[in-house]
Amino acid sequence: MIYPIVLYGDPVLKKKTEEITEGEDIKELVNDMFETMYHASGVGLAAPQIGKSLRLFVIDSDPIEEKEGEGRKQAFINPQILESTGDPWDFEEGCLSIPGIREDVKREPKIVIEYFDEDWNLHEETFDGIQARIIQHEYDHIEGILFTDYLSAFKKRLIKGKLANISKGKVDTEYKIKAPLALKR
Ligand code: NI
Repeated sequence: MIYPIVLYGDPVLKKKTEEITEGEDIKELVNDMFETMYHASGVGLAAPQIGKSLRLFVIDSDPIEEKEGEGRKQAFINPQILESTGDPWDFEEGCLSIPGIREDVKREPKIVIEYFDEDWNLHEETFDGIQARIIQHEYDHIEGILFTDYLSAFKKRLIKGKLANISKGKVDTEYKIKAPLALKR
């Protein structure tokens, strides 16, 4: 099932999410999240972006890896970033919930993360480069943080109008959206 993607301005995107009860069957939800992400040509999707305030996100980095086939496809359930290290680097990020806006964000290049997969196996794994980048962006979503929160006051002022239009649904996307301030027709 493909969910509409919740757009900027919806309170669910600013809320810290709840842990999922260990052992709960979440395979269908995980499949739906991958389906929704691929439909929207995204490389990551967090549960709040489909309106569910849960500690869960999915990634598939393949479309933006230097070499095709080197991507990582993974669901992260109840994750905890244990460590972020290295000199922060800039990368132009975008977000399915903030279509049409891309801005540089600084993040540390290497992380250690603990998470469950959809079979409830616990993993502790190190990621770097673009995969660490995507994971940090999605992890922020389950903490109620958006990449625009990191922008300078000046940058925020420049995109204020665009953000207001996004929350009204006045934006072109190739995927189904749910805008918090859209006027009912
Ligand atoms: Ni995002």
